[in-house]
Amino acid sequence: MKKVKLGVLVSGSGTNLQAILNACKKSSYPAEVAVVISNNPEAYGLIRAQKAKRLSIIISHKDFETRESFEKVLHDTLKEQKVDYVILAGFMRILSPFFIKKWKNKILNIHPALLPSFPGTHAIQQAFDYGAKITGVTVHFVDEGTDTGPIILQEALAIKEGTSLKKLEESIHKIEHRLFPKAIELVSKKKIRHVGRKIFLGRS
Ligand code: GRF
Repeated sequence: MKKVKLGVLVSGSGTNLQAILNACKKSSYPAEVAVVISNNPEAYGLIRAQKAKRLSIIISHKDFETRESFEKVLHDTLKEQKVDYVILAGFMRILSPFFIKKWKNKILNIHPALLPSFPGTHAIQQAFDYGAKITGVTVHFVDEGTDTGPIILQEALAIKEGTSLKKLEESIHKIEHRLFPKAIELVSKKKIRHVGRKIFLGRS
């Protein structure tokens, strides 16, 4: 089986990267991590990549004068590694239309809330502070808006009365680590269909 090549972008601890690396260990899994790129030289995600014997590259945005020149190197590096899909696994840089247009329907992101509720950063805390009764996790394609792209998978989670923020974060991350590899599998196997902005599951 020819595996789909993933380029995983991280900025931090990389627990989602780890879940993807673990899923990729199965011979039946349709994708493999071709490269892990971090804009943050200190990201623990880089160590995870090295431990899994995956190519890891630091491209620090601080070394570039403009967002576009940073993204040009990012794009060229992903192309050099023959990446099919770009996976945002806690990547803390906003990608501009310059990059997003080049990878239309090829960038997946995970968001720790049920979009379109609570987009942007600190989504778990936002839902918790708001007093939402239900939150969850969304995996979506990235478009030019902030967390507005077509939704691939979502899973809901009830926020029980008296739950602490810490407990909620743990429960959300547990879902993320299951949902992201599942969404990547569906996309890699082409078991999704774009109908306008909607994604239908089932072979295209
Ligand atoms: C996750 O909560 C993800 O939803 C968000 O950033 C966090 C990354 O965590 N986009 P990790 O680096 O994968 O541990």
